[in-house]
Amino acid sequence: MTQKWPLGGTDKVTYGNPSRKASTEVPRLEYPGRAAGYWYFMRELARNPREIGAMCPSSPVLARTMARLVPGGDGAVVELGAGGGSVTAALISHGVSLRDLIVVERSAALSEHLARRFPGMKLIHGDAAHLSRYEILRRKPVRAIVSSLPLRSLQKPLVRQILDQISLISAPGTVFIQFTYALRGGCRDVASGFERAQARLVWRNLPPARIEAFRFRDTADPGG
Ligand SMILES: C[S@@+](CC[C@H](N)C(=O)[O-])C[C@H]1O[C@@H](n2cnc3c(N)ncnc32)[C@H](O)[C@@H]1O
Repeated sequence: MTQKWPLGGTDKVTYGNPSRKASTEVPRLEYPGRAAGYWYFMRELARNPREIGAMCPSSPVLARTMARLVPGGDGAVVELGAGGGSVTAALISHGVSLRDLIVVERSAALSEHLARRFPGMKLIHGDAAHLSRYEILRRKPVRAIVSSLPLRSLQKPLVRQILDQISLISAPGTVFIQFTYALRGGCRDVASGFERAQARLVWRNLPPARIEAFRFRDTADPGG
């Protein structure tokens, strides 16, 4: 069963299978999730290289390292650009519950795949440039935003819009985690209100990547 919210446009939130209880375990299914994720990712890459922006899915090491930067506690964890689900799987393995996890993916084919791979997960088939429009993202504070969006290959105005939307759904303490293949310069653009907190280099990925974590400043703190 699929539930749809009146979000406008083609954007919709689906639950892969809402009858299934939220769990912290990666679901064991007959659906070959990881292999299918790889296949859908490569197919979308051939169709739309600029939006995918990577030569292959993130390695388990990169995905795990990103997941470990998500702080514990209450609040939603929002994943942007979930693709085939490598980072999604790492987040769930890391202990992010399906109650807290909300995934946003723009590609229809990859969204369909994600709904099958992760039954019960809240999935917005929509655009990270419209985050503040999604009612589901306003229901509770956002603890972390984990992004694999290809910010270096997307059009600049779109990147600006996405970063502004990230700021809009954030609150003091929200952690924004993004990876980039630019090992030295790191992320060029920072969402307003965020300051750099930490960075990690991951060599075991094709190509090697740099993960950066930013923290949303307390509004009382004018610094940065
Ligand atoms: C580099 S891939 C990352 C896939 C996966 N998370 C991984 O790490 O292997 C980037 C993903 O972002 C998605 N994407 C690109 N632009 C987007 C947007 N504006 N809103 C939501 N998703 C977007 C693409 O469809 C693709 O699945």
